[in-house]
Amino acid sequence: MTNVVQIKGGRIVTAVDDYVADIFIRNGRIEAIAASDSDISAEWVANSNLEVIDASDLLVMPGGIDVHTHMQFDLGDAQTVDSYETGTRSAAFGGTTTIVDFALQRKGQSPKQALDARLALAEPQACVDFGFHIILTDVNPDTLAEIPDLIDRDGVSSFKMFMAYPGVLMVSDADIFRAMRVAGHHGGMINVHAENGEVIQVLIEEALAQGNTSPKFHGLTRPRIMEAEATHRAIRLAELAEVPVYMVHLSAKEALDSVVEARDRGIPAFAETCPHYLFLTIEEYDRPGFEAAKYVMTPPLRESECQHALWRGLKFDDLQIVSTDHCPFCFNENPHGLNKSKQLGLGNFEKIPNGAPGVEFRLPLLFDGGVNQHRLTLNRFVQLTATAPAKMFGLFPRKGTIAVGSDADLVLFDPRKPHVLSAATHHSVVDYSLYEGFHVLGKVEKVFLRGRMIVDGEQWLGETGMGQYQRRSASGRIMA
Ligand code: URP
Ligand code: ZN
Ligand code: ZN
Repeated sequence: MTNVVQIKGGRIVTAVDDYVADIFIRNGRIEAIAASDSDISAEWVANSNLEVIDASDLLVMPGGIDVHTHMQFDLGDAQTVDSYETGTRSAAFGGTTTIVDFALQRKGQSPKQALDARLALAEPQACVDFGFHIILTDVNPDTLAEIPDLIDRDGVSSFKMFMAYPGVLMVSDADIFRAMRVAGHHGGMINVHAENGEVIQVLIEEALAQGNTSPKFHGLTRPRIMEAEATHRAIRLAELAEVPVYMVHLSAKEALDSVVEARDRGIPAFAETCPHYLFLTIEEYDRPGFEAAKYVMTPPLRESECQHALWRGLKFDDLQIVSTDHCPFCFNENPHGLNKSKQLGLGNFEKIPNGAPGVEFRLPLLFDGGVNQHRLTLNRFVQLTATAPAKMFGLFPRKGTIAVGSDADLVLFDPRKPHVLSAATHHSVVDYSLYEGFHVLGKVEKVFLRGRMIVDGEQWLGETGMGQYQRRSASGRIMA
């Protein structure tokens, strides 16, 4: 007999709505939403198979969508320590029910080969639903010829390209432009890591030659205006190529100014920022010893004036999404001895693996720092963490909202529950947290993935491999 679930008496919050009602779920999808005292509710309640979940005093929100994670990301020397299993389980405990991770095209490989390899890794392990962006590093006629099928057949409608990391991931402006033109004609979008990699390399080499080897110099050699310069360049290339463009992990006020300027002209330029840029500043690099290596991610942490600009940008839709860029390298050697850690960069900041963890803390951090601090409305919080990611990356209305016909991916959230963020209690394998000891108000209580409860307080009720690959429709077609 089909299992039917009633989420009873919760305060349903979407990007636009806020009301108390019951949600009825069958076969993993929302089939009805009705007032508790309505005839519709009475008819559903008469069904003897009904599993009733009491949501009174809880917020019921769409499952979070994190469109920037790096699980099992292999950078040669270093590898992120969360597998698709541990990383997606950690995401689930944080109220995220869909991630969009990355398939990295290596030199000599086709993008389709990169996608197939990632699918084979992720499918047996994923605990939440997942999709992929493809990172293009080898742009040749065959690569370009594959793009239409990747979008239409395989459901990959977004491609990340790097303006940073010369000799490793960086591609030329010409190749970015070539990929943009093809993607733009077929419903695709280009996500850009915008930093001027060649100039930054000059600054890194100068710093090292002067004996400036500590993690602090990671921040000092990646100046804000080099992010702004690359952001402006990427947007202009996209404008010429007639493709939507999405700036990943935007951190600098000056880069945001470029996005705003383009959007004011009607250009489909979009951007995300990440919790670490909203809650931490460049001062973390003054921590003693090698401790600051925990905060080495790219772009680096910025001054507090950037934080203010980012919060303002989130409020007024200059920034559309908050993602985590979860890229967890252990600080010390990981217990299995398998993956290399931040310690690789002892004595040379350039060798510190770039990236930091955070997939589990996006919702509680943004709720506390945004909603509780009156920087964001509750509706805007949902929009930034679920609805806009779904719309931007071709998952809406299956994901990203609470509506009849949508997947029953739901978070039951207690806005009054205090808790402390810590690596001692998070569910990621990584051995530290950027937010160690942060006190926040608001906690994920229960999480549903396609109608099935997968998290109940501290209990994991889901199954490894239950996450499903999401074929996405067009990306970036959300400007009126
Ligand atoms: O430092 C970062 N952000 N590492 C992950 C790779 C990337 O550029 O997103
Ligand atoms: Zn990046
Ligand atoms: Zn990233």
